[in-house]
Amino acid sequence: MNIVLATRNKKKIEEIRRITAGMQITLFTLDDFSDCPEVEEDGKTFEENAVKKAKAVSGYTNMPALADDSGLEVYALNNAPGVFSARYAGEGSGDAANTKKLLADMSSAPDEKRGARFACCIALAFPDRTTETFLGYSEGSIGREPRGSNGFGYDPVFYPRGHKKTFAEMADEEKDSLSHRGAALKKLQEYLTTPYSPFVKGD
Ligand code: IMP
Repeated sequence: MNIVLATRNKKKIEEIRRITAGMQITLFTLDDFSDCPEVEEDGKTFEENAVKKAKAVSGYTNMPALADDSGLEVYALNNAPGVFSARYAGEGSGDAANTKKLLADMSSAPDEKRGARFACCIALAFPDRTTETFLGYSEGSIGREPRGSNGFGYDPVFYPRGHKKTFAEMADEEKDSLSHRGAALKKLQEYLTTPYSPFVKGD
């Protein structure tokens, strides 16, 4: 069965391709539908944003569409940056600027107040407008300086719970096994392979 990924983020596409590699699914991306209009991520939750994007792309392509919205919630910052993770240091800000602002905002937080989690919502929307959502989390803490060069976003400052390496110091497979997106994709995979799934009934 075909699914359109409602993203142009190469790192996310790579992660989703790796995790869905064993499934009977052909993935397309927005690069295959270059005229598809951009969707404004103006929701208050990861779920609202993911559903909005998936529905828009499914409506445009008339195919099942998968969108994710994800971000970092830092408890000492009242769960900021949250849905603003990609633009924490301002509209159009990059990973380095966002990470720098986060470290500055957390500079006075002691070790025991550096708890955080990554959250991911994956939404699958069908041409008949129905949707399924899958939520995943990765608990951990914020370091004091960037470490490692793999991954993207806040990976260099995020230590998953029980580990002494940041996500950016881990190999892809290790991060996938611990990540919020990996957890949400595991739920998606379970859904896709259950007997009632439209992907199993054949399409
Ligand atoms: P969006 O889901 O593309 O709207 O953006 C989510 C933002 O959250 C990214 O730009 C990153 O800053 C951050 N983020 C989401 N997932 C990860 C991850 O796995 N590692 C590091 N940062 C992430």
